[in-house]
Amino acid sequence: MEYKKGTELEVRGIRIPQTGNHKTTIDDIRMKKATGNRITMITSYDYCMAKICDMANVDIILVGDSAATVMMGYETTRSITMEEMLIFCKAVKNGTRRALIVGDMPFGSYQSGSENAISNAIRFIQSGCDAVKIEGGIEIIDFVKRLSELGIPVMGHIGLMPQTSSIKHGFSLRGGTAEEAMKLIREAKTLEEAGAFSIVLEKVTSEVARIISSKSEIPIIGIASGVLLDGQVLVLQDLLGLYTDFRPRFVKKYLNLSEIITNAVTAYGNDVRSGRFPSEAHTFHMEKLQQEHLMKLLSTNGTA
Ligand code: KIV
Repeated sequence: MEYKKGTELEVRGIRIPQTGNHKTTIDDIRMKKATGNRITMITSYDYCMAKICDMANVDIILVGDSAATVMMGYETTRSITMEEMLIFCKAVKNGTRRALIVGDMPFGSYQSGSENAISNAIRFIQSGCDAVKIEGGIEIIDFVKRLSELGIPVMGHIGLMPQTSSIKHGFSLRGGTAEEAMKLIREAKTLEEAGAFSIVLEKVTSEVARIISSKSEIPIIGIASGVLLDGQVLVLQDLLGLYTDFRPRFVKKYLNLSEIITNAVTAYGNDVRSGRFPSEAHTFHMEKLQQEHLMKLLSTNGTA
């Protein structure tokens, strides 16, 4: 389908103005599924990277709690705090003009009572996010309903949920048995009915992922869950080859940025040690007259 700048598209009652710098809305994301266009989502945590991802035309920038590992160097995502997450959200907001920004509610920010959870979700919106993502199934349904009623768009996250399910089951594949598949299918439906605008499905067998996607009106965005979904998400540092602590099989590495940066920083160090940097091109000079004046001043002060 052609999207012409300046025109308006209407599918299933959802209107999308077509402008070059149009800020992506929840309706746009839902429309992608309705029109069979795959959604691109990627994580970012800072101004420069968000700006690049935004210009590269991704639909959604996720300020993921993966910031815990790839930005903070924590061992698990459970260690990151609200305060740390909100700083990343503000930086991403400053670099983003077009993409929808989703903030990932960290472990501990939505488990301790509904009022506290709502005020934490509001803090994400106040820090520049357009929506929040929450890990969980049936246990978070009331919270998803409340937020949706309050006009705070929610993205669900089921399957492997690194904040909690990794403690019980490790990082193993989900949806490998028919019973487990039924539970995931029910969870996705319940999240949709509670008002979630989209769901992330993590490390689920592709057969089950396909069923969930085909049964949902809302977009199902996958990570490690096969291609038969409405969109894909990856952690930026994994895709760029910047996070080297470990590399899961489902990641496609598009660049070896860690090697590129190591080479650049090594070259800089060598240039500094050998005196090749800064060169004349990077140096600022005093005007001749001022130099002469300074010399005179220094000689009259007796310090030249
Ligand atoms: O925090 C994150 O980056 C995520 C994605 C992997 C979906 O939750």
